[in-house]
Amino acid sequence: MMRKYLVALPMALLMVSGAWAQGLKDAYKDYFRMGVALSGRNMTPEQEDIITREFNSVTCENAMKPGSLQPAEGRWNWREADRIANFCREHGIKMRGHCLVWHNQFADWMFYDAQGKPVDKKLFYKRLKKHIRTVVKRYKDVVYCWDVVNEAIADGPGDTPFRKSKLYELCADEFILKAFKFARQADPKALLFYNDYNEVNPHKCERICQMILDMKKRGAPIDGMGMQGHYNIHYPAMNELSEAIEKYARVVDHIQITELDVRANMQHGGDLNVDKKGEAITPEVKSKFEQQYVNLFRTLRQHSDKIEVVTFWNLTDRDSWLGADNYPLLFDKNRQPKEAYHKVLNLE
Ligand code: XIL
Repeated sequence: MMRKYLVALPMALLMVSGAWAQGLKDAYKDYFRMGVALSGRNMTPEQEDIITREFNSVTCENAMKPGSLQPAEGRWNWREADRIANFCREHGIKMRGHCLVWHNQFADWMFYDAQGKPVDKKLFYKRLKKHIRTVVKRYKDVVYCWDVVNEAIADGPGDTPFRKSKLYELCADEFILKAFKFARQADPKALLFYNDYNEVNPHKCERICQMILDMKKRGAPIDGMGMQGHYNIHYPAMNELSEAIEKYARVVDHIQITELDVRANMQHGGDLNVDKKGEAITPEVKSKFEQQYVNLFRTLRQHSDKIEVVTFWNLTDRDSWLGADNYPLLFDKNRQPKEAYHKVLNLE
């Protein structure tokens, strides 16, 4: 009898305090969904438990990118994407599709013919259309939105707001219009996003909004803005984040934070040339890190009428594309929740 009480009492206390079995997705159910980017490495029983407890949206970190899915014409590599999609199907988790067009990890063969000579726009679009149709149709039961175009806008000054990529060289900005049209044809029900980093920077935000307005005028079915959210312990300022959300809300109906992480150094953004050496995690850095996550979630919650999902870019520091020393996520390299996790979970 006594033993029963000894077990039941702490359990009851935990349940009353809200800490029992309550993950991020439950704590935030009145605000927005909580998402995570995954790779095949995360598909182990221990990690799957964390995923299903904490998250209700999943993105493939790399597996659905064009270069992963179709590394050569007609050579399809579905394994990792299928594995993650099947896990999501099994657990009733909806997926964000990432991504259909990007200057990195792209199916570069689309730019060349069998002799290695550059193709013309017509053939490029034919190949792109086929790729988009095949991928979007395969996952349309589980993927409810797609990052159709990723990172097409340039950061710095320049004569054009567009990134000077191979895509831009061949098609100018028309590839954006085409990609959105192809995606809509492939699945009229999917929500179609433009996704980018440095999205809070007022200059880049302005460029992105202008591009979206112009594309829509030209007939591109753009439903949403994906704010990547690669931040750090000093950046961004919360008023800038709020202003950016408000600006995007004027040009699209859907906004999601698609790749959230917070580096413990001065770097931020989506450049793949990452400095993997973070700052030493002193008590001061740790408390700045916690405060930044608290500030971010407070601000995002204030905009929960506009923000639909907040996705973390990776599950734990061990998996992070930034390296564990950058200390970017809510779970540490031993997959344990950090103090910042508890602060975000129990945010008042
Ligand atoms: C990153 C992945 O996390 C890495 O594993 C890969 O080597 C490079 O790409 N912006 C994006 C993501 O839109 O697709 C990138 O993901 C990170 C920056």
